[in-house]
Amino acid sequence: MSRDIIAIDGPAGSGKSTVARAVAQALGWSFLDTGAMYRALTSEALYQGIDVHDANAMALLARDARIDTLPRIRVNDRDVEDEIRSEPINLAVSVVAANPLVRASMVGRQREIADAQLTGTVVEGRDITTVVFPNATLKVYLTASLDERSRRRGEEGVASVARRDIADSTREASPLRQAPDALVIDTTGRDVHEVVGEIVECLKNIK
Ligand code: DC
Repeated sequence: MSRDIIAIDGPAGSGKSTVARAVAQALGWSFLDTGAMYRALTSEALYQGIDVHDANAMALLARDARIDTLPRIRVNDRDVEDEIRSEPINLAVSVVAANPLVRASMVGRQREIADAQLTGTVVEGRDITTVVFPNATLKVYLTASLDERSRRRGEEGVASVARRDIADSTREASPLRQAPDALVIDTTGRDVHEVVGEIVECLKNIK
């Protein structure tokens, strides 16, 4: 049986993780942060000394690495929850996420993870509404001004966020795109609870 999915996409700092987590909590559903999976894999490559530009080596790592997402993100049993937000990972993760072989592995795992839940799942990333769950119960695209998104990303800074925006939306493999039937919410200056309320209300109207 296929489970209910709320798929949320949007650029860095648009509020995806915070909103997705809060929606999952409000509904009693599971939550999956797919960016954390790409970040964990990047962390493992740096840890093992694998060149992230080596597409085949990265594909093998993506196939073989054990990635656990809950309660904290772990790769090959190493807790990387804190490390995956560091600058070396911010710099290298766009290269890893642009590799189509890596993406194929991650997409398969993401579907399996959601399928294994006893509840619905709120899944957030860049290709969730377009590639991973194009038939999701509800699709949401979150956005916000670059200034606000950079403020939310703190130390990462406006230049790094803008660089990742370009890398994520211009790459050939599953670039960030707004699904035509997504509920689009601009979170600039908006309260998290308000945005969560809008999503939960929209879900109620669908079901
Ligand atoms: O959401 P985030 O900043 O943690 O994502 C980290 C990187 O992974 C980002 O550069 C985009 C990429 N990503 C992706 O390509 N596809 C996803 N489903 C999730 C993240």
